[in-house]
Amino acid sequence: MTASMINRTAIVTGGSRGICLAAAKAMLDRGSNVCLTGRHEDQLAEALDHLAAPGRAISVCGHAAEPEHQEATVARTMETFGSVDVLVNGVGINPFYGSTSDLPQDVALKMYRTNVLAPLAWFTVCEKVWMGEHGGSVVNLSSAGAFRGGPLLGSYGVTKAALVRLTEQLALEKAPLGIRVNAVAPGTVRTRFAAQFWEGNEEAAAAAYPLGRAGEPEDVAEAIAFFASDDSSWITGQTLVIDGGLLLTTLVDSLA
Ligand SMILES: NC(=O)c1ccc[n+]([C@@H]2O[C@H](COP(=O)([O-])OP(=O)(O)OC[C@H]3O[C@@H](n4cnc5c(N)ncnc54)[C@H](OP(=O)(O)O)[C@@H]3O)[C@@H](O)[C@H]2O)c1
Repeated sequence: MTASMINRTAIVTGGSRGICLAAAKAMLDRGSNVCLTGRHEDQLAEALDHLAAPGRAISVCGHAAEPEHQEATVARTMETFGSVDVLVNGVGINPFYGSTSDLPQDVALKMYRTNVLAPLAWFTVCEKVWMGEHGGSVVNLSSAGAFRGGPLLGSYGVTKAALVRLTEQLALEKAPLGIRVNAVAPGTVRTRFAAQFWEGNEEAAAAAYPLGRAGEPEDVAEAIAFFASDDSSWITGQTLVIDGGLLLTTLVDSLA
């Protein structure tokens, strides 16, 4: 483990559990400070206990798509640590399963607002307050569903595909400012968010993956920390698929 994030500070939205709590831990291990967000104080308090890094980890409670929460989180992080060098846009929602043409407009707007517009808004605040002058690194949580369709998660996949393009576009526009923007695209990771795809169904879920298992939060966290740190200083605009080989099987099947 390198100390590649010493004197850095990362805001991690949706950092109170799952993939992004593991990412916060991976960045703390590399020397960073972290600010976690989530909607529930008790969950955030538990996360801070778990990280056991007093003085280097704080939290701010709120809804990721609310502008006041975004502004307040960045302000609190600046007051506490003096910089916002890294933004991990971890929050993503999937309130709908089924055919995309059945997706109600209000649900579509909610999903697009949280999965695409909120990451952009968080970036804009971080750029205004710190990154625009000092540079930084942004990591967006996309999904393997951005790259393949399916009967249940198609609409969610469309928003995550938009996030891939947003990652590329921001990377291009902000490279002259020293801001890098990358994304990770996980397959099923054993968190609460994806519980219905693995809980009570562990063997079948594992068998779907060429590497013989579903993902763990740490599998993705290490890649997030890599993108966040200077270890990836000449990489921008990329989306790393982390899926135990799942997308490869889809490709082979479609060729057979
Ligand atoms: N797990 C997977 O299989 C998988 C696969 C591909 C992509 N992803 C993506 O990875 C990201 C993290 O997922 P995860 O599996 O780690 O989820 P998770 O374990 O369920 O954690 C979700 C985190 O986000 C917070 N959160 C949820 N909605 C929020 C909102 N509207 N505003 C603020 N915080 C919110 C939750 O805290 P509160 O509930 O307290 O707000 C929690 O901290 C998501 O973007 C997801 O789309 C996950």
